[in-house]
Amino acid sequence: GKVAVLMGGRSAEREVSLMSGAGVLKALQGQGVNAHAFDPAERDLSELKRKGFKRAFIALHGRFGEDGTVQGALELLGIPYTGSGVMTSAIAIDKVMTKRVWLAEGLPTPRYVLLRKGAYTSEQVAAVPGELGLPLIVKPAREGSSLGLTKVTRDADVAEAVERAAALDCDVLCEQFIAGDEVTCPVLGAGDDAKPLPVIRIVAPEGNYDYQNKYFTDDTQYLVPCGLPEGEEAAIQALVLQAYRVLGARGWGRIDVMIDAATRKPWLLELNTSPGMTGHSLVPMSAAAAGISYEALCLQLLEGAAL
Ligand code: DAL
Ligand code: MG
Repeated sequence: GKVAVLMGGRSAEREVSLMSGAGVLKALQGQGVNAHAFDPAERDLSELKRKGFKRAFIALHGRFGEDGTVQGALELLGIPYTGSGVMTSAIAIDKVMTKRVWLAEGLPTPRYVLLRKGAYTSEQVAAVPGELGLPLIVKPAREGSSLGLTKVTRDADVAEAVERAAALDCDVLCEQFIAGDEVTCPVLGAGDDAKPLPVIRIVAPEGNYDYQNKYFTDDTQYLVPCGLPEGEEAAIQALVLQAYRVLGARGWGRIDVMIDAATRKPWLLELNTSPGMTGHSLVPMSAAAAGISYEALCLQLLEGAAL
């Protein structure tokens, strides 16, 4: 049956989603799948049913795509879709809710202060460095691709960083900065059958893995095999698998982790339930290292489409 590749959408990561979707569409079509691009920003999702689409590959990122809303609409339409369900998507889009679940399960995630949208004072903002230390990270609670993210190194810069994150119309998450190795680990599958892929270590120019260095420069190094000390990769994979399972994720996902350089302790940052599939993206790189081609990965994800 016909497959819709949902791409584009209304979030700040629209441009990234169009790149992910183009890759997925080409890979599926190249393997004989009757796949068509579908942009929910331009067409009503209810058209999917009228036009006879049987499954949806979600290549949307951020709000109105990765956050449970599209998943809920597809549930109502009865169209199986790739990736996590409504609840996991809705929790994972929110980095603070994600932290709360992980903390409740005893899993390590950096300390944080939440500044609720429109409901914090300049005194609260000024107090953040005292609570978390410097440097610290300020980011919108519900965005991806490092949009609106600032690493703050001076007390005087906190307020501006908070404003930048708040401009994306979100609660603002201030997070303790973990100095050390930046790594990420994809997971494929669901529940007891979920399996981690190889860990990737990210070495960005001046440690700055921002939007530009994520998608548009070739200055970021991606190390896979990750070259971490003996045993660390397996420990991270085990931790990530647990973090994925407690959130009830299915299909696929990618968990970002920082490893403290001094203690070597890994800290969970977030779960991406609809990770990037662009030419610079990490899940395809890790899958390739495990012998799974981009094309095979797309097909495998589509085969896991569920309601
Ligand atoms: N939010 C981007 C798409 C990612 O995690 O890959
Ligand atoms: Mg993200």
